[in-house]
Amino acid sequence: MSIPDIKLANGVEIPQVGLGVFQISDDNEVINSVKWAIEAGYRHIDTASFYGNEEAVGKGIIASGIDRSKLFVTTKIWNDIRTYDDTMAQFQRSLDKLKLDYLDLLLIHWPAPGYEETWRAMEDLYKDGKIKAIGVSNFQDYQIKHLMETATIKPMIDQIETHPFMQQNEMHEFLAKENIVHEAWSPLGGGKNSVLDNDLVKEIASKYNKSAAQVVLRWHIQRGEVIIPKSIHQNRIQQNIDIFDFELNNDDMNKIASLNEDKRVGSSPDNKEWLEKSKEFNTLADRIKKGL
Ligand SMILES: NC(=O)c1ccc[n+]([C@@H]2O[C@H](COP(=O)([O-])OP(=O)(O)OC[C@H]3O[C@@H](n4cnc5c(N)ncnc54)[C@H](OP(=O)(O)O)[C@@H]3O)[C@@H](O)[C@H]2O)c1
Repeated sequence: MSIPDIKLANGVEIPQVGLGVFQISDDNEVINSVKWAIEAGYRHIDTASFYGNEEAVGKGIIASGIDRSKLFVTTKIWNDIRTYDDTMAQFQRSLDKLKLDYLDLLLIHWPAPGYEETWRAMEDLYKDGKIKAIGVSNFQDYQIKHLMETATIKPMIDQIETHPFMQQNEMHEFLAKENIVHEAWSPLGGGKNSVLDNDLVKEIASKYNKSAAQVVLRWHIQRGEVIIPKSIHQNRIQQNIDIFDFELNNDDMNKIASLNEDKRVGSSPDNKEWLEKSKEFNTLADRIKKGL
C-alpha cells in the first residue's frame, strides 16, 4: 500500500497518513502497533513526550527493521518546557528515548504561554539540521500570528483536532492561506463520540463498500489534510490506509460537511486556565497521578 506525500513549505515531504500512538501505554501494544503499521506500509509515526511511550516507539521502529531514512517520525514538546535550554534538553531526551539521531518533525504541543522561547530553540535545532521540519499543535490563528511577531521561521504544520463533528473550517482556510499544512488529530473523533456510528456516515460507507472509519479518513484526505489515526488492532491499522482506491463524490463530501457541530473531544486552545494548569504535569500518567 503506497501512501501519498504532502509537501511542506520547506519542500520536506510528509506521508499523508501516519500512525498515532496517544493513550497506548502498554509497551508491547506500542511496539506491535508500530511494527504492524510499518509492515502494512505506514512510513509516518506520531508520538509525544506527553504520551510517555517514546521509548516503546523506538523499540517498535527497531523491531520493524525499517531503514530509518524511509520513516517520518514526529514528537512534541510538552507545556512545562518553556525556556531555550529546557527545550534543547527535552529534544535530546526525546531523541535518546526514540533511539534516533534526528527528528523529521517537532511540534509545540499546546500554545501554553512562553512558547516563543521554545520556538527559538526549535528554530536553532532546525537550522542545525537536527530536525527536518518544525511546527505547532493546537494553535489558533491568533496564536500563530503572535508567534510570528518574534519567529524567523513560520511553522510548517499545525496539528489540530479535526473530524466531521469538529471540521475547523476557518482554521482550514487560514492555514491554506498561510501555506501551513493542516494535520488532523483524532481524525476518527477519538473513539469518544459517535462519528463512526453516525447514520449518514454509515450509509455512505455501505455505498462505497468501505467501513465508516475509511469514509471519514477519505473525507480528510480529499480535504488535503494529513491524518494520524490511532489503533492497537492490526486489522484496523491495515484498514486505515486502505483508502486510496475510491473517491467520495461532491455530494457525499457535502453530506459529511453538513455534520459539523464545532464540537471538540479534547481541550480548547482558548482555555487559558487549562493551558496554565497543563504546565504542572508532563506526561499523561503524571496528569492522572496528580488528579489534574
Ligand atoms: N496534538 C494533540 O494535542 C493531540 C491530541 C490527541 C491526539 N493526537 C494524535 O492524534 C492521534 C489520533 O487521535 P486519537 O488517538 O485521539 O483518535 P482517533 O485516531 O480519531 O481514534 C482512535 C479510536 O478509534 C478506534 N479506531 C481506530 N481505527 C478504527 C477503525 N478502522 N474502525 C473502528 N474504530 C477504529 C481506536 O480503537 P482501537 O485502538 O481499539 O482500534 C480508538 O478508540 C493520536 O494517537 C495522537 O498521535 C494529538
